[in-house]
Amino acid sequence: STWTSVAEARKESAIGPDVEIRGWVRTRRDSKGGFSFIEVNDGSCFGSLQIVAPGELSNYESEIKRLGAGCSIVAIGRLAASPAKGQATEMQADEIRVLGWADGETYPLQKKRHSFEKLREWAHLRPRTNTFGAVMRVRDSISRSTHDFFHDEGFFYLNTPIITASDCEGAGEMFRVTTLDLDRLAASGKPVNHELDFFDRPAYLTVSGQLNAETYATALGRVYTFGPTFRAENSNTSRHLAEFWMVEPEAAFFDLSDNMALAERYLKRLLRDCLDRCDEDMQFFNQRIQPGILDRLTAVAEAPFRHMTYTDAIEVLEKADAKFEYPVSWGVDLQAEHERYLTEQYVDGPVILTDYPSTIKPFYMRLSDDEKTVAAMDVLVPGVGEIIGGSQREERLDVLTRRMDQAGLNQDDYWWYIDLRRYGTVPHAGFGLGLERVVQYVSGMANIRDVIPFPRTPGNAEF
Ligand code: 4AD
Ligand code: MG
Repeated sequence: STWTSVAEARKESAIGPDVEIRGWVRTRRDSKGGFSFIEVNDGSCFGSLQIVAPGELSNYESEIKRLGAGCSIVAIGRLAASPAKGQATEMQADEIRVLGWADGETYPLQKKRHSFEKLREWAHLRPRTNTFGAVMRVRDSISRSTHDFFHDEGFFYLNTPIITASDCEGAGEMFRVTTLDLDRLAASGKPVNHELDFFDRPAYLTVSGQLNAETYATALGRVYTFGPTFRAENSNTSRHLAEFWMVEPEAAFFDLSDNMALAERYLKRLLRDCLDRCDEDMQFFNQRIQPGILDRLTAVAEAPFRHMTYTDAIEVLEKADAKFEYPVSWGVDLQAEHERYLTEQYVDGPVILTDYPSTIKPFYMRLSDDEKTVAAMDVLVPGVGEIIGGSQREERLDVLTRRMDQAGLNQDDYWWYIDLRRYGTVPHAGFGLGLERVVQYVSGMANIRDVIPFPRTPGNAEF
């Protein structure tokens, strides 16, 4: 392009000829010598470029001395070595044009630091803060690594539908999609006739693309989906969203250990790429968001993950001296406090938990020989808890249909899914990784609302 990004201009190698910079003012500082320093950021990197504005500029008094946080400018000048520490270059400006003013009286992002809670009220302006810039560049790095990694591993990128009739997780947490005026029908007392609805049947926003991905994995071999998923769970926690992004690989001929190894390689790739690609952003998280995170993630990217069965984990938790709000015994689902204990006290790092009781997992997971547990795997990490949930799938027709009956599912609704076991069935496995939870893990951000551009939670769909 005809102008230079701040990321480029900050490099020592950029020193030399005239360049043009376009961005937003972070701060302005006037020097006694009759010139000003303007810090400009354009989002291309964490740091800003220092622009030295000489008093000789024709608009120095009329405009430059009124510039403040949020104003957008174009600056043209020479890039020189900077005598200031912490920056290799600075610009000696010959010309500065103001594109847009930002009234210092009303612009919410003044120098004063705001809490993340407060910034959620300005979801349209918070991308301009240091923290959100860093979070979104890291989020982008993780998306990019996801496509790179799965393609390197021979997977095809597959788009599964957003609107669906089936509840993959069987948890009844689906958002209804309808063109019927349900309010008017309810007021009229008439029963809802689903055949008059757009799809001739009840339809919902997907909670997972897995069932659709399985149909393609048993044809193309290895596929992955990466898209938005929706859950109407009424949980107001720091790790649940009503709309979140999920990466779901599904692979034919994979068993549970192939699946676990894939998840581990994938997570390590995400970490290594963030550490390499987003150095300045990661340094910021290390200093301001979660001290020590750099060393911890670097270590996690190197060492093998710990594995544990659910049964062993329950034993550890039962013996733990920690006081839990929810008591543990074999058969209960693990709560956040239990996941914290396992990953923060017991292991201090990621743990892959396997072989959960069939009663607390969905119908599609492969029943083990003990008839009590399924070939499930959850990857838990410190600070966040579960970031991956997956399993080897039930490939045996008779066992699958039996499990569906036990779960109270109508086989007619899943006839196409059952067909995959009827015609050329094969062992296969996959998992789902919650993108936002990984961004939390990599950045140290405490609340999931602060790692997605526009969070959707109960009672919150503005912006
Ligand atoms: O464990 P879950 O429910 O698994 C599935 O949906 C499987 N069908 C995936 C598969 O095997 N293809 O969800 C997978 C991951 C969780 O580990 C978590 O990281 C994330 O999705 N997740 C959420 N993230 C944010 N908000 C929510 N409400 C989430 N629910 C699940
Ligand atoms: Mg899960």
